[in-house]
Order: sequence, then C-alpha cells, then structure tokens
Amino acid sequence: MDKIRIRGGRPLRGKIPISGAKNAALPLLAASLLSDETLVLRNLPHLADIATMTHLLAQHGAEISMAGEHPGGGHMGHVLKLRAREITSTEAPYDIVRKMRASVLVLGPLLARCGRARVSLPGGCAIGTRPVDMHIRGLEALGAEIELDDGYIIAEAPHGLQGGVVVFPRVSVGATENLLMAASLAKGEVVLENAAREPEVGDLANCLNRMGARIEGIDGDTLRIQGVDRLGAADYAVLPDRIEAATYAIAAAITGGEVELIGAQTETMEAVLAALGEANVNVQRTECGIRVGVDAGAKGGVRGIDVTTAPYPGFPTDLQAQIMALMSVADGAAMITETIFENRFQHVPELMRMGADIAVKSATAVVRGSGGPGGGGLHGAPVMATDLRASVSLVLAGLASAGETMVNRVYHLDRGYERLEEKLSACGADIVRLTE
Ligand code: UD1
Repeated sequence: MDKIRIRGGRPLRGKIPISGAKNAALPLLAASLLSDETLVLRNLPHLADIATMTHLLAQHGAEISMAGEHPGGGHMGHVLKLRAREITSTEAPYDIVRKMRASVLVLGPLLARCGRARVSLPGGCAIGTRPVDMHIRGLEALGAEIELDDGYIIAEAPHGLQGGVVVFPRVSVGATENLLMAASLAKGEVVLENAAREPEVGDLANCLNRMGARIEGIDGDTLRIQGVDRLGAADYAVLPDRIEAATYAIAAAITGGEVELIGAQTETMEAVLAALGEANVNVQRTECGIRVGVDAGAKGGVRGIDVTTAPYPGFPTDLQAQIMALMSVADGAAMITETIFENRFQHVPELMRMGADIAVKSATAVVRGSGGPGGGGLHGAPVMATDLRASVSLVLAGLASAGETMVNRVYHLDRGYERLEEKLSACGADIVRLTE
C-alpha cells in the first residue's frame, strides 16, 4: 500500500490549481441516469471516488467515454460523456456502495426514471452512523413505497413519483440531492423545505435545469420543482472544489508561506476565509483566484480562534480536521466544535502523537497552539487516519513539523485530493509518495 513521506518545515510558495469539486461531481454523475440523452461533464477531478461512481453507473447501463481534457493540461479537469440510453439494472450492489456512501445518490434517479430501485444500504462509516432515513422518508412523501430488506433499500413507484412537500428535519446534502433528482421527473410540484444550501447542491440544480428540469429557489433553503416528463442532453462544467482550495489555503498558513489558489472562488468560501482572516492569515482575491499567506514577521503568526461547524453557509465539517491542524501550531488556544457528525475527531490522537496539545470533551476540542507556524512545536511521526479529511489534516501537520512524517492508508487521500503530493511539491514541499 502506498505511503506519503513528508519532511516538514518548508514554507509553501507558488500556485496551486484547484480541481473540480468531488462533492459536486458525484451527484452530477448520478444525474446522468435521469435521461436517455448524453450528459457531458467537464472539469471532473481525477479521483478514486469518481471512478467508483462511473463504475456504478456503467453497471446500471450507462455508456461512458472520455471526451478528452481541456487544452493546457490535465489540471483543467477531465471531460466525460455519459449516456444512459437504457437502464439495464436498477440494483446498486453492496460491493460498490460499501466503498462509497455517495453511491446512494443513484436511488432517486433510478426510482424516478424506472419506477423501482434496489440500492444497498451504505452502512456505518468512520465518521459516524450516517443514516439515510431522510432520503427514504423524502421519497416516500413523493409516493414511493420503500422497504428495507437484507441490507437493501427496495423502492417502488410503479406509477411514477407524485408532487408533494418534503420538510427535512435537519439539513442533509445527500438527501436534498436525491430528492432534487427524483422530483425533476415527478408528476406535479415538489417543494423541498429546509433543503441544504451547499454550492454543490446548487451546481446539481443548475445542471438539472440545463437538462430541462424546472427548479426554482436555487441556493435557498426552499426548492420548488415542477416535474417534467423527461430530461434531455446537457453540457456542464463542475464548480471548483472549495474544500480542496481551503485545504491548500491552510497548507500555506501552517507552513508560514504564501500560495495562489488558481480557480478558487471566494463566493463559496466565505466562512472559511473569514475564519482564516480572524486567525491572522492574509487572504486576497486575485485575477485568477485567491492568494493566501502569513506575514509572520510584521503581524505575528497564526492566532488561535474558535470554530463551530455548521451547514452552508457555515464553517464546513469537511474542513474541521484541517483547521485543527492549523490551530495546533497557532499562538493561543482554539475551541473547535463539531455539530454535523458525531465521530469526527479521529485525527485528534494522531495529531497528538505529532506533539499537538488537544483535549476533547464530547463535540468540542480545545487546542492549545504551540506558538506559531513553520515548524514550532510539532514533530514528525508515522500516522494514519480512517477518513479523507482526517488524513489530509495529518499531511498538513506533517508540512509544519520538524522531521519526517509518514502518512499511511493513502487511499483515503486518493478519494478526494487529486495529485496532492504533486501540487504541494510544486510549491516547495518535501513530499513524496512511496509505492510498496
Ligand atoms: C455530504 C458530503 C460530505 C460532507 C457532508 C456534510 C458528499 C458526497 N459528501 O455528505 O463530504 O461532510 O455532506 O456537509 O457530498 N443524516 C441523517 N439522515 C439522513 C441523511 C443524513 O441523519 O438521511 C445526518 C448525517 O448523519 C449527518 C448530517 O445528517 O449527521 C448531515 O449529513 P449529510 O449532509 O446528509 O451528509 P452527506 O450528504 O452524506
């Protein structure tokens, strides 16, 4: 299994191209099942999770071909043509779903298009139980009959889905996306209340509208969908990955360097850029993206700040581990509260092995920073993590540590960060992938 070796203490300097957003790409890929015409998706990141989703779609009968890359190099993203002329199987098997929870996003499209679906339950995962009850209740509100049997969701709507009102009891990105896709082909009007407002949900809604759906209220918490009989072809570019961009912003800050994030959009990153600003990190909009850096000499290093995760437009749970790594080397204490997932502090013991001073009490971690970026109090160690964002937080800590850090279980990183070691080493990091 591959490992990543980091020798820390080098300030990052340079430009980092930001890839298309994984969490937008996955539902957009699933949306191809809604139409018998071609969906062209551009700016797709090259990631293990994308490969898992295309594998699942092919298994449902979609024809998928690479349509080349943007001129100017791979970092501009991949282009895929997807055509689900006919759905040859309405079953999403356990073997694929267990690899990636987002596979459950085929449930809404299959049910809406074929009137039935059999999708494996994704089960628990490292960051919590993550049930899919809101996906199921929502589809039932549109007339689906759903049973759970033998680890599978068995859903039927032989006469098609109907209009209806779905009030989500709490904000769920995945449930909103599944319902949006299903509602696009329902008979009548569907209203989704307390819908997730994440930019990736907006990206999906915009693409569905290009395919002929009638969705109003995009980016708000109430979505109104007038169902249509069929969806057609579209050509759509995935939005830039705000989580990847913020991760590299934190990489610049934690090493006391300065990087320009090419293609990053400030509009979708307000909470995190505000938090970085409060922590004394300079953030500037540029013509091509965002410049992030730390002016250690003049203003002092990174300051400890308090952060609470929340649904968009709040501070993303997908950046909680990374900001904790930064706070481990900050000047002063920080309080980090996780409100979305119940078990998302698995990076804490690993960061502590690298010298971080962190105390966890239920959903809050108190981090006593080691006094400033650029090698301060952390030291390298062999580490591993059980999920994607936790793993990247260990890479960030490694960049700021004295000595060598070996990150094991690199496959987690490959699920969500495209060419991570290449992008970081191009800015001067000493980071290499070791293949065994
Ligand atoms: C998506 C993102 C993930 C991010 C998360 C929260 C993708 C592919 N993944 O995951 O990176 O961390 O949003 O921003 O886009 N819940 C229920 N019942 C349900 C559904 C969710 O109780 O039916 C709970 C979850 O356990 C969690 C919370 O709701 O506590 C939010 O989860 P949700 O927004 O659904 O996350 P995902 O869509 O799985």
